[in-house]
Amino acid sequence: MRATDIIIKKRGTFVTDKDGNRKLVGAQPNTKEEIKFMIKGCTDGSIPDYQISAWLMAIFFNGMTFEETGYLTDEMLHSGDVLNFHENGANKDIIYVDKHSTGGVGDKISLPLAAIVAACRLHDPMMSGRALGHTGGTLDKLDSIEGFRTALPSETFIKMVNEIGYSMIGQTEKIAPADKKLYALRDVTGTVESVPLITASILSKKIAEGSDGLVFDVKYGNGAFMKSTSDAEILASFLVNTSKAMGKKASALITNMNTPLGNKIGNFLEIEETIECLEGKGPEDVMTLTYALGAEMLVMAGLAPDTDKAVAMCKDAVQSGNALKKFLENTAAQGGDTKKLLDEVGKRRSQFKTELYASKDGYISIEAFKCGMAGVILGVGRSKTTDPVCADAGIILNARTGDFVHSGDLIMEIFGKNTECLEPAKQLLESAVTYTDSKPESNPLIFKKI
Ligand code: URA
Repeated sequence: MRATDIIIKKRGTFVTDKDGNRKLVGAQPNTKEEIKFMIKGCTDGSIPDYQISAWLMAIFFNGMTFEETGYLTDEMLHSGDVLNFHENGANKDIIYVDKHSTGGVGDKISLPLAAIVAACRLHDPMMSGRALGHTGGTLDKLDSIEGFRTALPSETFIKMVNEIGYSMIGQTEKIAPADKKLYALRDVTGTVESVPLITASILSKKIAEGSDGLVFDVKYGNGAFMKSTSDAEILASFLVNTSKAMGKKASALITNMNTPLGNKIGNFLEIEETIECLEGKGPEDVMTLTYALGAEMLVMAGLAPDTDKAVAMCKDAVQSGNALKKFLENTAAQGGDTKKLLDEVGKRRSQFKTELYASKDGYISIEAFKCGMAGVILGVGRSKTTDPVCADAGIILNARTGDFVHSGDLIMEIFGKNTECLEPAKQLLESAVTYTDSKPESNPLIFKKI
């Protein structure tokens, strides 16, 4: 078997019709053996990155059948160990539940959510990703806490989930290694927005982490990988149906990502906003979505009889201070310096800074995608796999979509990895803001449950 033949089979070929139009035709599904060959070669390094990247691009353009997506998920899942919290009949009464977002801008929900549900006695083994395309990554955010380790041995991860209620790790050489490799390549080769690739990426790590149930936050809108609600519904169905076929409980909320979530975008800035959320001072959209997803998880785990009671439990975890305590307990257990972290809140900012002021009076709308791309320019995400991210880069939104501003009002504080990145990011952010005389219609934050 040769990687080149597998790529060409998935790619198809161009033909010119009688009107002179060139069309891509003849792409065929890859077999289970071919997918296994590619994933094995990707994991052990025997197939070079350029061939894997070409195959990813062919999948991006030609898609995969439901069957191929299942094979891809299965091969990626078994590229490493699959954790089992119930081995030899252990933890019989516990239903381990996790949530995963398909990616957004300012989407720090996993961070307050894991602490809140753990404070409600839920067990959440959470395996997350790094920044992907224009979207932020939970692992990059956690790395901004001094000492915090997201690469933990499986035994430590399992112990922490059982004792503290949650632990947050990334793909490792042992767990979901194929996703670790493919995720990094997709980030920089323009191959992120693909239903089969997203499905296999998410499910391979989510099933490998050992959860019994999964709640998906499937984003739609300009700041999401799925731009329309109908595409988001297709992705949600792929995720929920494939999870159920693999023996997991699963549900999904389809949620709005047309404008950034919360007031802060950036690695440390989103850790800071997480603490604000857990202190009961979080932005309304972040809290609403966190409670909705938390309620899904608690009901799925059998810890609450219905959504209303589950939301009340989540709110109580915040008001009582238990969720913040849980967050700090987990941070310390994963090596993070909690004292330094709390000292830095509200103070830790990049020295490279500029500001954006309103150019006229009006109601504003802020486009999520452009904010995410500005974040990449500032150093929140990567342009090449080898790029480091900057913990202190990001954007503070002093006004949000739907707010009325006057000309000259401060709309955004912009922090970069260096001086050079500030102006191009500011120009992009300027174009992300539109002004209208009447208040823009607001789409619901939660569109639908699947
Ligand atoms: N989240 C993932 O883990 N993978 C994707 O491909 C997209 C979002």
